[in-house]
Amino acid sequence: MQIHDQKFEIFISSEQIRKKINEIALRINRDYADANPLFLSILNGAFIFTADLFREIIIPAEVSFIKLKSYRRMETSGKVKELLGLEHNIFNRNIVIVEDIVDTGKTLNHILDEFAELGAKSIEILTLLHKPDATINHINLKYVGFEIPNDFVVGYGLDYDGYGRNLKDLYKVVN
Ligand code: IMP
Repeated sequence: MQIHDQKFEIFISSEQIRKKINEIALRINRDYADANPLFLSILNGAFIFTADLFREIIIPAEVSFIKLKSYRRMETSGKVKELLGLEHNIFNRNIVIVEDIVDTGKTLNHILDEFAELGAKSIEILTLLHKPDATINHINLKYVGFEIPNDFVVGYGLDYDGYGRNLKDLYKVVN
């Protein structure tokens, strides 16, 4: 399978993903039984994972979607990230952040910094994939689907330069 200039091979099947989602949902249904969690899914990559996971949640729960927009300010050389779409009041709520993949951990670090001030009762991380060898910042990841090597992956919501999100299975780059 080819996207742009890169070849990809199948890595984790949709069936394996489905089983893993069932396992994680069981834990969440138990851990959050009386907690009325608010799932905050990070766009774009987590949209398919979130949709599949959320349908396995059988306790009262809300879901919403947020996005980190990167842009460069003219006056500084650094990248600035702005959190978009947080419409819920998260004060006193039990928050579960839903990520497709934790790579360096920079995205999550940024989000956790923004949330620290907002008075959530609890904040936990749920990620489908984690690349431990790439993660710089230590973040406590409560629910991890698969720990994977430091290879680029696409499919199941994850893209390579915009393409591949619609693939049902996860693929990894052929080196
Ligand atoms: P981090 O901030 O370095 O942890 O990166 C997180 C984001 O980078 C993810 O939400 C993805 O959008 C993207 N990303 C990291 N690794 C991959 C990959 O292997 N395939 C596709 N997207 C990736």
